[in-house]
Amino acid sequence: MSLTVQSPCKINLILNVLPRRSDGFHELESLFLPVPLHDEITIEKSSKGIELNCSHPALSTGPDNLVHRSASAFFTELGEGGARIQLQKNLPLAAGIGAGSANAAHTLRGLNELYDTPLSAKSLHDLAKQLGSDVPFFLQDECALATGRGEEIEPVAPLDSLHGKGLLLVHPGFGVSTPWAYQALSAKPKLYCQAGQSAGPIERLRSGDWQALQNNLEPGVFGKYTVLPVIKKFLSDNGALGALMSGSGSTVFAIAEDRPAAEALRAKCHAHFGQAGWSATVCL
Ligand code: C5P
Repeated sequence: MSLTVQSPCKINLILNVLPRRSDGFHELESLFLPVPLHDEITIEKSSKGIELNCSHPALSTGPDNLVHRSASAFFTELGEGGARIQLQKNLPLAAGIGAGSANAAHTLRGLNELYDTPLSAKSLHDLAKQLGSDVPFFLQDECALATGRGEEIEPVAPLDSLHGKGLLLVHPGFGVSTPWAYQALSAKPKLYCQAGQSAGPIERLRSGDWQALQNNLEPGVFGKYTVLPVIKKFLSDNGALGALMSGSGSTVFAIAEDRPAAEALRAKCHAHFGQAGWSATVCL
């Protein structure tokens, strides 16, 4: 018996990083939006062990792979079972769009479904947060406010202002290390946000004020990867309603009036910067 699950990605409409905690993680307040662009995970039950195959040559299929770690955590909790897993990667790595975290969460969800729901929502959440700060968000499918180190998820009402808008994701062809991006911010402590500073911008986004998009990891990342602010400005100058780096980068996204406008912007972007990276559009 096998199951195929679609593993999506996300953008952060707001990413407010607060000062570093004593455990080394940063407290944050972030508005996560699920994005319907997918990797695909096919899971087949086996009696014992984990066998992982992956379409991406750069990804390990061993115990360090996040999908492997996720399956291993599931079976340790369950106390029995095994799986053969095929991971079809369509989304870029180290891109700030949470594709790896989604893979981990959807492996947990898929295994739990295949094994007739032996683990409670709380157990899945406990496993997910051990796998990574962004993993719990992908245990659910809604727009959500993430707090703590990102693992405390509170679904929020959908933003009507986004309805029918086009979203363009532009990945420049290289990734950014998440630990490095947080470290770059900690070198500029004046840029840390304070708790409670996301409420106002979220309301502004609800009313369609796209200038309220914000991410305080941008300055540190933009300082090293200087093409990213150039891409962001290009998007803003060429019709985007708003543009921002997602998560710790390197993906920059643009909100456009509708999908055709996002496609037109994508074409302009490729004409200007070349075809080296990855890009995609969706209707929100
Ligand atoms: O939790 P995750 O594995 O995604 O975190 C990767 C790294 O990013 C952490 O080890 C830490 O350096 C940094 N991070 C952080 N604060 C967060 C999330 C991540 O400092 N809230």
